[in-house]
Amino acid sequence: MIYITGDTHARFHRFNNENFPEQKEMTKDDYVIICGDFGGVFDVGWESKSEKYWLDWFEERNFTLLFVDGNHENFDRLYGYPVKEWHGGKVHELRPHVLHLMRGQVFEIDGKKFFTFGGASSHDIQGGILEVDDPQFKAKKRLLDKEWVPYRINHLSWWEQELASKEEMEEGRENLRKHDYTVDFIVTHCCSSSTQAMIGAGLYQPDRETDYLEFIKNYANYKKWFFGHYHDNRNILDKEILVYEQIIRIA
Ligand SMILES: [Fe+2]
Repeated sequence: MIYITGDTHARFHRFNNENFPEQKEMTKDDYVIICGDFGGVFDVGWESKSEKYWLDWFEERNFTLLFVDGNHENFDRLYGYPVKEWHGGKVHELRPHVLHLMRGQVFEIDGKKFFTFGGASSHDIQGGILEVDDPQFKAKKRLLDKEWVPYRINHLSWWEQELASKEEMEEGRENLRKHDYTVDFIVTHCCSSSTQAMIGAGLYQPDRETDYLEFIKNYANYKKWFFGHYHDNRNILDKEILVYEQIIRIA
């Protein structure tokens, strides 16, 4: 069994026995995939008490938890977990059964091929990215707080790795090439520029990652594409599905 869901932002009650009773019939060879903004690795320092609790809690569930990264992950820490080969692609192993599916990989799970590509631009940053070592940091922060303008702080609530690098995009192209650009499912956090334009009606700007996903959309053969980021449950055209709090069975 493979289930898929959208952004969790470190709120994991949707996976308890009451909200997700299907897990009673599941084993570690069954999977739940989160389409980014997992949020379970976010705090400063190594695994806070609450993060450790939830990572161990997932390890004890009757399924293997998989996630692509979103724009709300602490990349300094996430990229500090060991990289392992898993089902044909690379993962960061947070726990033996809690795995980050890295960007640009093709995984074969239960006979189905998945192309994964996390990351996205943060949209709610009108106040900009503050640096703690900026002499004006406190003054800038105070002003933004007073005027309720959303902002982020570099390495505390924003990381430049949120957006894909050229190397990651090339690795994705290379891995897709090895599979003749044909997979069953694509799992990402943001989506292609043209799909994003349909969702946002001018609200979101395209970036190098959504443009890259546009290329993937045009070149790859796939059955369904699941993504999160835009916090809604919607079918976009016939193959692209925006997921949020629903947990959908896909295999
Ligand atoms: Fe999100």
